Amino acid sequence: MMGSLPDRFHALVIGASGTIGAAFVDLLRDSPRCASVHGLHRHSTPRLDFADENSIADAARKLATGPRYHLIINAAGMLHNQSFMPEKRLADLNYTQMQAIFQVNTFGPALMLRHFTPLLDDERAIMAMLSAKVGSISDNRLGGWYSYRASKTALNMLIKTAAIEVARHQKNSVLVALHPGTVNSRLSRPFRGEIIGRPANDAAADMLRVLDTLTPSDSGSFKSYNGAELPW
Ligand SMILES: NC(=O)c1ccc[n+]([C@@H]2O[C@H](COP(=O)([O-])OP(=O)(O)OC[C@H]3O[C@@H](n4cnc5c(N)ncnc54)[C@H](OP(=O)(O)O)[C@@H]3O)[C@@H](O)[C@H]2O)c1
Repeated sequence: MMGSLPDRFHALVIGASGTIGAAFVDLLRDSPRCASVHGLHRHSTPRLDFADENSIADAARKLATGPRYHLIINAAGMLHNQSFMPEKRLADLNYTQMQAIFQVNTFGPALMLRHFTPLLDDERAIMAMLSAKVGSISDNRLGGWYSYRASKTALNMLIKTAAIEVARHQKNSVLVALHPGTVNSRLSRPFRGEIIGRPANDAAADMLRVLDTLTPSDSGSFKSYNGAELPW
């Protein structure tokens, strides 16, 4: 697994308490080629909470004393919580929901791009952010899910923009937006996720296979779990 990374590679998973995040951690831990996998979440050490701006820089500062990472995956994200479900119509839009969704899906990952890209290994490194196909503007046929869609579209733009900048001084780094497909998880459960979603382990294994094929020329792209390039 991840044969394109150096033997004894180091990996970091953000959102490791989530369904897909935990599956990435398990698969990487089982890989004999992986020297270390660090899983961060709101209750880990160090802790990382996208609702707390300082926790992102603090976590990066603490990890900077360790080895450089060959693989960093962000599997945190939010579609709904105890107080709200995705908006079905314009009449549902409000600041509280939009701010909460953008904080987790867009602003937190943006600061991850700021603070964690310097931790990538110079020889070969991949940073993947879990995005979503519903963030594709050209693929939007059904409407609805306003803040989730827009938060992932904005995330994609941030990744693309960061990829251009990072390529100037870290030529071997690959930054990508990655769609996991529909996965049976806490996030998808209210939307028949148990019926239409795949097991998180299958999705994570598929995504690692795709990541393994990526080269710096793929940096700034939007990929699906099956390797297909997704339209913006
Ligand atoms: N499941 C799907 O069908 C599907 C489809 C397309 C895209 N995705 C994307 O895949 C990613 C993983 O989703 P999942 O299905 O594994 O969902 P999940 O099981 O609900 O996991 C979500 C993760 O996000 C974390 N999170 C939430 N708020 C946070 C915050 N303020 N700071 C830091 N972490 C926070 C959660 O932490 P806690 O454990 O502390 O709550 C958890 O680790 C998300 O980005 C999602 O948008 C999923």
